[in-house]
Amino acid sequence: MSSLITSLLEGRTMRSYSLVGPEAAQAKANGLAGAEWFRPHIDPDRLRELTERTNARAVSDVVVWILLVVGFAVTAVASLGNWWAIPMFMVYGAVSAGAADARWHEFGHGTACSSERINKVVYVFASFLIWRGPTLWRWSHVRHHSDTIIVGRDPEIQVGRPPTIRKVLLNCTHLLNGSRGLWRLIRHAAGNIDAEALDFVPQSELRKMVWESRTFVAILAITVGVSIATGSVVPILIIGLPAIYGAWLMVFFGMTQHLGLREDLLDHRANTRTVLMNPLFRFLYLNMNYHVEHHLFPSVPYYRLPALHTEIKSALPAPSPNMWHAYREIIGELLRQRKDPTHELSGRVIPKLAPAAGASAERFATQLPDGTLDLGSVESIPVHAVARVDLGAQTFVVARIGDEDFCVLDGTCTHGAAHLADGVLVDGQIECPKHNGRFDLRSGAPCRAPAREPISTHPVTVAAGRITIPRPRPRPRPQPQPQPQPQP
Ligand code: FES
Repeated sequence: MSSLITSLLEGRTMRSYSLVGPEAAQAKANGLAGAEWFRPHIDPDRLRELTERTNARAVSDVVVWILLVVGFAVTAVASLGNWWAIPMFMVYGAVSAGAADARWHEFGHGTACSSERINKVVYVFASFLIWRGPTLWRWSHVRHHSDTIIVGRDPEIQVGRPPTIRKVLLNCTHLLNGSRGLWRLIRHAAGNIDAEALDFVPQSELRKMVWESRTFVAILAITVGVSIATGSVVPILIIGLPAIYGAWLMVFFGMTQHLGLREDLLDHRANTRTVLMNPLFRFLYLNMNYHVEHHLFPSVPYYRLPALHTEIKSALPAPSPNMWHAYREIIGELLRQRKDPTHELSGRVIPKLAPAAGASAERFATQLPDGTLDLGSVESIPVHAVARVDLGAQTFVVARIGDEDFCVLDGTCTHGAAHLADGVLVDGQIECPKHNGRFDLRSGAPCRAPAREPISTHPVTVAAGRITIPRPRPRPRPQPQPQPQPQP
């Protein structure tokens, strides 16, 4: 309220960043909700290599992280009673809760490990360390990827326009967002779900969300109880409070992702920042500094993002060469946007390119005299690869999972505006390139959120080296939304 009064006094108008305010309806009316985004071309075979996941790499990174957390916890507790306990706890908090943000993010996308179970376990553990309900934040992040920095749609916009010094400082210390996150957990544990959560969490997930909140609140309450009963601050300093005093590292990294960049534009190159970092930062942040690359290709696991950067950097604006450069840009932009909320960063050169047309948009089905559809030759699709085949308004994805073993599904994801031919084959499933939702290749059943509706499958015949399916009833293909282009 006070920032609104300040803005009014200074003649500035604030936009509503609420997901249930007037900007939400405006974003939908402008075709900015769940729209198609710019994506540069990448060779499909190379992309397939880059999306390969290994348990070994992700698990070894988790083990090193846990060892660091335990080591710093022991050192911090041992230092209690000395002045250096303060920096020791700051470091412990940063390594545990601060670095948990990147683990929450990577394992939440489900791309870190090939094992779904390990992804889930690490995701829930990291969610607890930073007081985020796993289901609530999974869906929040899905929306963030659908509608990145779209005002009225994206629940993860850090600072609105015009930025206020008070808001930026509260963000830096995490005092505001940390206490809000805890209060939200408590309210959801009591079954009191806020309107914004109801805007992006599906009804069927609410019960799970409430029980997760209850579990997290119960663990925190027990920790407080143990601290009171033992007369020691150690339990709550080690479990719980790092989400506040250790969050500085999460904020330090996280503010570079989108702050000061464009709102309401369907091009991640205009609203997202890549920053080059040293190896220590990249370990703590799990390569999330390659943030443009991550938003463009969320199926690529964190350990292959540097290679992805090399692959597509000619299509991207130049990255910030270091954190110092990134923060100079951010602070300068926030100060300018404080005076003029419509100010946009100049000097960011975004290569003008045609969007990629999809993995194999040039393949077309032909109708045979017996009424079936010929989707192409067996040799045209490598084993473990997918291809897009169109017939008029209909579009299919053809997956080759063995020498003579093919699956054909409708091409457009039932969750949003993405073609499954740009996705990845994993364990008999196809993973959508947009939010990493998955479908069973044989039945079309949704196997991983945010995919919830089944996708149509088509019986395949392979004969004489050709792939055919019965002609399905025509259904209109969803039309792409208009794409505002970035201004130089
Ligand atoms: Fe969201 Fe496919 S568009 S999972």
